[in-house]
Amino acid sequence: MSDERGTPARIVVTRRFAPALMDRFATAGAWVNLDDEPLTAAEIAVTAADHAADALVVTATDRVDAALIAALPPSVRAIATYSVGHDHLDLDAARARGIAVLTTPDVLSDAVSEMAVLCLLGAARRAHEGARLIYEGRWRGWSPTLLLGRDVTGGRLGVFGMGRIGRAVARRLARGFDMEVHYFNRSRLAPELEDGASYCDSAADLLAVSDFLVLAAPATPETARFLNADSIARLPPDAVVVNVARGGLVDDEALIAALRTGRVAAAGLDVFDGEPALHPGYLDLPNVFLQPHQGSATVGTRVRMGELLLDSVEAVLAGREVGNRVA
Ligand code: DGY
Repeated sequence: MSDERGTPARIVVTRRFAPALMDRFATAGAWVNLDDEPLTAAEIAVTAADHAADALVVTATDRVDAALIAALPPSVRAIATYSVGHDHLDLDAARARGIAVLTTPDVLSDAVSEMAVLCLLGAARRAHEGARLIYEGRWRGWSPTLLLGRDVTGGRLGVFGMGRIGRAVARRLARGFDMEVHYFNRSRLAPELEDGASYCDSAADLLAVSDFLVLAAPATPETARFLNADSIARLPPDAVVVNVARGGLVDDEALIAALRTGRVAAAGLDVFDGEPALHPGYLDLPNVFLQPHQGSATVGTRVRMGELLLDSVEAVLAGREVGNRVA
């Protein structure tokens, strides 16, 4: 890999990746943190300076704020994040220094939407309670009343955030489970992107029809704590809530209170505010299905994410435009 001057690009990678991808980064001559532990902000800045890095590859667990961007050496011209979400990066600070920011759209939409389906089914069909019954040796056999869940097939699905991932979720649940899809987005989609889904003019309208609500919007000041006591009160009784976006979209206290009383029947959550810590209230609840932020965690997806970043870092350093540039 070389830049527009024809000199080899120097890339610093903050985390170790899957073996298939490590080969690609090795071929590109990248320096990779092999410790399997995140670097501190100071360590990222020092490592970038030590290697006179042209580009940094970071992950969603690296907080790349204005202070870190200011501390980077002037050699850095691109920051590529191994995620589609970029709420951990200060885009304005990057822009101000002329640093390009690259993300991984499209290549992970299928995997993350699979996780949304898993969370929805896991919550609706009480997978956590069922698994515990078996693992704890408490299962006494089939019973007509054991762990009755909610019918998913034919239900009403509400998608908050109908971007690439939201649309992939809607497509799977409409085709696979005959769900009636409603969505709310900053703006209405073109009919071919709606693919039969009904647009709601307001978030309140979406909530009112969401027997199953999937959060798939980016974390922004506008979406922060979208699911709170007020919005939960607008959901139909016994709603099932899924979050594959970011933990910050949910007011944990409000959701936990609603799960305790049964106002919300169940939740399937792959992301948490302040992860890897999560609100301890979730751990005592039977009606939650929890995953440790694994939406994009398939071998193929993680390889494609890395390849996209390597290719787009090369393009940006060579002065070319790329579609996955967000700053
Ligand atoms: C993403 O790509 O944003 C995933 O949530 C991983 O951080």
